[in-house]
Amino acid sequence: MAIRITMGIQKGGCGKSTTTGVLAHLLARDGYKVLAVDLDSQGNLTELLSQTPANEFAERSVLEAMQEQDARPYIFSVDEKIDLLPANNFLATFQRWLYTGKTYLGDQVRFTGSPSLVLNNIMEQIDEDYDFVVMDTPPSLSEQTTNALCASDHVVVMYECSNWCYSAIPNFLDSVDVARDVSPNAVNIAGILRTMNDVRRNDAKAFNEIIEEDHPELVFETIITRKAPTGRLALYGFEENPEIKQALAQYEGFYKELIDRVQD
Ligand SMILES: Nc1ncnc2c1ncn2[C@@H]1O[C@H](COP(=O)(O)OP(=O)(O)OP(=O)(O)O)[C@@H](O)[C@H]1O
Ligand SMILES: [Mg+2]
Repeated sequence: MAIRITMGIQKGGCGKSTTTGVLAHLLARDGYKVLAVDLDSQGNLTELLSQTPANEFAERSVLEAMQEQDARPYIFSVDEKIDLLPANNFLATFQRWLYTGKTYLGDQVRFTGSPSLVLNNIMEQIDEDYDFVVMDTPPSLSEQTTNALCASDHVVVMYECSNWCYSAIPNFLDSVDVARDVSPNAVNIAGILRTMNDVRRNDAKAFNEIIEEDHPELVFETIITRKAPTGRLALYGFEENPEIKQALAQYEGFYKELIDRVQD
């Protein structure tokens, strides 16, 4: 059975997509078979892993997989170890479809189960095909977020060390609690990952410390700092990236900690 992990926080630009892509890459490097699921209409994870414009996945995305309740026809193979359920702009029509049954193509495709378990149902179909499923979520709370959380065994809370992200934490922890009530899965919080740290800024340092005081049992020891090569993964991707080692080095500690926590 696949271990399913969601990266989330109800705040933009905290490194969710980058971390999801890096995690998929490191797991694949270590021989695990991984499915990456993009639940954000921005399609950033899709572009990061496929190096293809997200729009090219129109009608071939996670949206159609959820509407038809059949994941396999929509899985894109990135390489031998990484598969991807892509996303694009049309994923923005997910909520309307959930409540009206109307797809953006005008078809009626009703879903009769719980609106929060649409994704979980298709994940169950492919559980045996993967060691890990990693899921990327959008910046604001939405049905995609709820579906990702409900389909998860574990959640990594992304924490960019700033005041607005600090205020997003209790809201996101509430969302996880609500998902846990509805979901058949554990929806366990694997931990809080401090990201995008600007080591020269005292306020970032202070927000690092505050979150550790609030949630000493949850924070990962590893802190991800702002580094140009990590940022440029969005440009170069993982293949033929001349600075891949520098881009990934700071993620190794987090990766180890996470694997220890989710495989316990
Ligand atoms: N450690 C880092 N150092 C420098 N830049 C980074 C780092 N991590 C991510 N970035 C860059 O910061 C931006 C935001 O990162 P990313 O898209 O992963 O965040 P996100 O939480 O997924 O954003 P959104 O909420 O919009 O989905 C991107 O341009 C990315 O390339
Ligand atoms: Mg993102």
